[in-house]
Amino acid sequence: MRMDGIFLAGLMLSASCLVSTSMAQSESGTPHLKKQGNATQLIVDRKPMLLFSGELSNNAATALEPMEAIWPKLVAANLNAVLVGVSWAQFEPEEGKFDYTLVDGVIAKARENHMHLVLIWFGCWKNGTSSFPPYWVKKDYVRFPRIQIGEGKTVSISGPVELLSTLSDATRDADAKAFAALMHHIKEVDGAKHTVVMMQVENEVGVLRDSRDRSPAANRAFSGPVPTELMTYLEAHKDNLIPELRDVWAANGFKKSGTWEEVFGPGKPATLEIPVQTTISVLGPLEHENSWQQLHWASDEFFMAWNYAHFLEKVAKAGKAEYDIPMYVNAWLQQPNHAWPGTYPCGGPLPQVHDIWRAGAPDIDILAPDLYLQYFDDVAARFERNGNPLFIPETSTNAANLLMAVGKFNTIGFSPFGIDGNRPIPADLAAAYSLLDRFSPLILAHQGKGTMTAVRLNQGDPPLDVKLGNYTLTLTYTGRATHIAPQPKGQTVASPPMGPAAATPEPPLEAAAILINTGPDEYYFAGGGMRIDFTPNTPGPQNVGLGDVQEGNFADGKWKETRQIEGDDDAQGEILILHPYSALRVKLYRFP
Ligand code: DGJ
Repeated sequence: MRMDGIFLAGLMLSASCLVSTSMAQSESGTPHLKKQGNATQLIVDRKPMLLFSGELSNNAATALEPMEAIWPKLVAANLNAVLVGVSWAQFEPEEGKFDYTLVDGVIAKARENHMHLVLIWFGCWKNGTSSFPPYWVKKDYVRFPRIQIGEGKTVSISGPVELLSTLSDATRDADAKAFAALMHHIKEVDGAKHTVVMMQVENEVGVLRDSRDRSPAANRAFSGPVPTELMTYLEAHKDNLIPELRDVWAANGFKKSGTWEEVFGPGKPATLEIPVQTTISVLGPLEHENSWQQLHWASDEFFMAWNYAHFLEKVAKAGKAEYDIPMYVNAWLQQPNHAWPGTYPCGGPLPQVHDIWRAGAPDIDILAPDLYLQYFDDVAARFERNGNPLFIPETSTNAANLLMAVGKFNTIGFSPFGIDGNRPIPADLAAAYSLLDRFSPLILAHQGKGTMTAVRLNQGDPPLDVKLGNYTLTLTYTGRATHIAPQPKGQTVASPPMGPAAATPEPPLEAAAILINTGPDEYYFAGGGMRIDFTPNTPGPQNVGLGDVQEGNFADGKWKETRQIEGDDDAQGEILILHPYSALRVKLYRFP
């Protein structure tokens, strides 16, 4: 891995800001984050853990009784954690009166089912809008002002919208007070047991349908100076800023002070309508690249990012003052064709504004993507920059994405959305969760050390070479095939279903595997659907033999062999296949 001086300095700087663990946290076993190399781990009860999770649909936990049917489904699919929403409306139905029934019920059921919880605070915002605040907040639009969007006839929806403004101290204090009460209660009932391991603060914040709030208060703030706190942060981190933001600042002359438009260029004129979007399906990788690289009306987006970050910082800080466990915010991502702020919630923690969120919300530990995009690996990489720990609170059930997120991008957890839904949880995901849950001691030991990676292969892909340790591994797609006839190294193999699998045709496997180098001639692999060949990349004999191949997995942290692989199973020592959702330990030898 490349580690030049600047990168390393940036990483260390960011890391020191991001992860600070108090002695009390680590000694008591309270959930906290800890750096290991360039990875960040979630530590619970003094041990690192990976969250193999799912997020419930928004209202699934608004009553306990219907939840009864959901827990067995989660257990059967091998989840070890679940993300559950807590609605402010239900938690504080009358101002100052808190109802703990649902939170207590969910914690009790999670414990009964041996699961951890990440609780989502549906406070002021959910998907940009404000549908979860209590009735007493919703109806009081004087005390709790809304944002305004648009101006004039050209904007399709103009005037106030049901979206609470970030610029009201009363709104911020009410939200923070409720969140603090929630954290106080969680500490009381869970401070010793640690069922709740992380908190999500709000959900997918940002302005929709316009690029910023245009209320009188917002217009005043926008035409005032960029806050000194933000300018000082940008100056201090100038060499390590996210390039998208740095480029905007550079193009406007790296000014050290000024209004938002002076420092970051022009915002959108209020009367200009946001261009209508084309559908995602007609766009390919080029548009995807472009929409990420060109920021539109950056000053509007930076302004909103600062205001959301500043608001959420107050909420998170109030919560952490009661119970200090890791907290994150999640981003509704910019879709490939959604170039204009307002077509995605503007000001949310998207990669281009990560530095602004870092400056405005130091108590938020993780900026997390809701990652449904097909460009999964690209997005994961963008969320890992400058030491941001990766956690994926919402995604699809794609098991290959899980393997990549864990093996290559050091995610803390993976959590398909709507896991309680009517459709069954795919067998591939359940199998991958089971495999990785047992394999996790080795993964956790190797995170952030440069000895682990992951690969994905689809049917028809050419073989892939990966240099890892003393060998270059050539990975060739085999899919769901259960038996592979000998063929030359690197030859792509079609995967006709064989044996009993032929009776129930399955979709072609998206193959993926985690590769871990544990010694000069030793590897562990988890995942599958691929053949693995080895070429030495150090001097010495160039032929490689499969010395000892064991299928198995970890039990109580120790490798346990379930099957020796020799003879017909490795084509008499010539072909190594990692079958789907299996784990192998391989010892190699070299001969002239
Ligand atoms: C993203 C949101 O964060 C979720 O709460 C949910 O509304 C999903 N979208 C629906 O796909």
